[in-house]
Amino acid sequence: MQEAAFRASQLAARYELWETTSEALAARIAALRALPDILGANVTIPHKTGVLPFLDAATPESLYFTQAVNTITLEAAPAGIRLIGHNTDVPALQRVLREEHAWSAGKRLTVLGTGGAARAAVAVALLEGADPWIVARRPASGRNLLAAFAPHWQHSPGRQPTDDLEERVVDLANTEALAAVLEGTSVLIQATPIGTGSRAASPLPLRLLKQLPPDAFVFDMVYNPPVTALIEAALAFGLRASGGLPMLLYQGAAAFTLWTGLPAPLDQMRAALRQ
Ligand SMILES: NC(=O)c1ccc[n+]([C@@H]2O[C@H](COP(=O)([O-])OP(=O)(O)OC[C@H]3O[C@@H](n4cnc5c(N)ncnc54)[C@H](OP(=O)(O)O)[C@@H]3O)[C@@H](O)[C@H]2O)c1
Repeated sequence: MQEAAFRASQLAARYELWETTSEALAARIAALRALPDILGANVTIPHKTGVLPFLDAATPESLYFTQAVNTITLEAAPAGIRLIGHNTDVPALQRVLREEHAWSAGKRLTVLGTGGAARAAVAVALLEGADPWIVARRPASGRNLLAAFAPHWQHSPGRQPTDDLEERVVDLANTEALAAVLEGTSVLIQATPIGTGSRAASPLPLRLLKQLPPDAFVFDMVYNPPVTALIEAALAFGLRASGGLPMLLYQGAAAFTLWTGLPAPLDQMRAALRQ
């Protein structure tokens, strides 16, 4: 996708995969300062939070909302190169949901998972004034995630004065409670890796999708395969649904613009992703 963007923009640049262990992360990031002609970098699982101490700064949005960075830019400074962290997952998901007209303020957005991608989804919910709920196999981890957002929640337009954000967590194993949450859900976001590389695996019993209102939108962050079992079932129930490719495209497009200062050639990037 990025190489297609470089070609379309006539930039003589390459995008390389640098597999990196946690032990090697500090040295890998330090190398960004030393190597010539680096435009920037992406950071992915499992280093999106672990990379923060090795950067000189991160955008307030990435720190405040997610504590996770997926894009690094380089900035020339008198004392040398400064490395700045950004999070393009949040605006990418925001763009997908806006394009789908997926909500209005106060509607419920339910997130499956409690990792970095789930944090981005909760951030988007709060930014848009939606009402975030979490479904997790470890409810304590969901409560911790929501607790981290508490200061922002105070100012969210979707908040009711009596609401307790940390109570909005459902145990994935509690089918009855899960069905009840889905009944009031406008947007369901699947933010676990379940379904990656499999057309059969699903994070929840697929029959439960019947509980969603008919105008609900289901978004699976998994993009490989492009249509997961969850998305296939949601479409079969007549719901609107999408796999994770549009988010992957938009986070990559935002990163491209941060690195190059150029508009992202979306058509070429989308075509490369589809190949
Ligand atoms: N489309 C996009 O642009 C985009 C962007 C970001 C991420 N993603 C995708 O989103 C997915 C999650 O990414 P992430 O960074 O959030 O990963 P992560 O930080 O590792 O978090 C994964 C989450 O999934 C839960 N989980 C894993 N296996 C599970 C299972 N069998 N049953 C129930 N819950 C399970 C984990 O629960 P525990 O904490 O209990 O282990 C954790 O809450 C990945 O597939 C990633 O590729 C896509």
